[in-house]
Amino acid sequence: MQITNFNDYDTVDLDEKKQALAIIDQTKLPNELEMLYLTDQKDIWEAIYHLKVRGAPAIGVTAGIGIYLAAKEIKAGNYDEFYAQFVKAKDYLNSSRPTAVNLSWALKRQEGIVIANKDKSIPEIVEALHQEAIKIRDEDIAMCKAIGENGLALVKPGDGLLTHCNAGRLATVKYGTATAPMYLGHERGYNFRIYSDETRPLLQGARLTCFELSQAGMDVTVQCDNMSATAMRNGWIDAVFVGADRIAANGDTANKIGTSMVALAAKRYNVPFYVCAPTSTIDMNTASGKDIVIEQRKPEEVTEMWYEKRMAPEGIKVFNPAFDVTDNDLITGIVTEYGVARAPFKEAFEEMFRRKKG
Ligand code: MRU
Repeated sequence: MQITNFNDYDTVDLDEKKQALAIIDQTKLPNELEMLYLTDQKDIWEAIYHLKVRGAPAIGVTAGIGIYLAAKEIKAGNYDEFYAQFVKAKDYLNSSRPTAVNLSWALKRQEGIVIANKDKSIPEIVEALHQEAIKIRDEDIAMCKAIGENGLALVKPGDGLLTHCNAGRLATVKYGTATAPMYLGHERGYNFRIYSDETRPLLQGARLTCFELSQAGMDVTVQCDNMSATAMRNGWIDAVFVGADRIAANGDTANKIGTSMVALAAKRYNVPFYVCAPTSTIDMNTASGKDIVIEQRKPEEVTEMWYEKRMAPEGIKVFNPAFDVTDNDLITGIVTEYGVARAPFKEAFEEMFRRKKG
């Protein structure tokens, strides 16, 4: 369905009336605004795989809703049959993309609901999954707002802020992570100057970040990825805010390819480099960045996509990882809904998780 006003829609939602996953098709932006309503597991898997919905938190919310919709369709005579089919659907959705931990995090959380409600009837279990999907979505909004407040405290009115890829509203339900301080600052008259890396090869920065921030009325400039060091050297950038797909226990952070280059340049020019992410993106079971699985994508994204004619010789070898790892010593702070973690990160995360448990 074509829509006219972007600001009237959340990035990911459960349409109660249609009982469908409602997403903005991000492959069509910025030229077309189209909502998709998906009910079938296969379509939801493909929407994640083809980046119609993308960004770690948005993928997590999609998975939470997607597995509820899949569970609704299960025909089972008893709990064991239901659970076996649930696990099959969960593993299938989990195979759509490997790097963002929020995908498996949301699916595991929903599995916990099935197990905790073992003694209930199947319709009651499905209803518990429904309620948990809504909770995951609502929590995402609250977490991003808290990240925004914590991030905003690190900058001042008039600052130049650089971001890479899209860790924006389009990567979450609302506000974004790296963009949350920008949205809150904008509401409060901070007049930030935002610099958005274009983000080769899929142009999430140019297509998505520039789209959503300009729709919100912010001052945003697009630059090719290889221009960020110049912007820093020119003194235009006061802080870098980026998102994360998976943060290892030692603070090493996987995010969109090119992020680590920005961090290296920021270190050279003494620009604080902040990773903004909910605690659901911190994976304490992954010790360091070398244990993070990095998604490799199709060569055509580099050689052909976006061009009228291919721009590299036929048959050329292509290196196209979707993410890189920024070493923890390049990170000034990790901004979560529980505050800003600083090195040593493991201890800071453990303290945050203790508070989260209550
Ligand atoms: O391949 P994508 O577009 O899903 O990659 C997205 C990113 O790398 C984001 O920065 C990350 O998921 C954080 S989103 C709040």
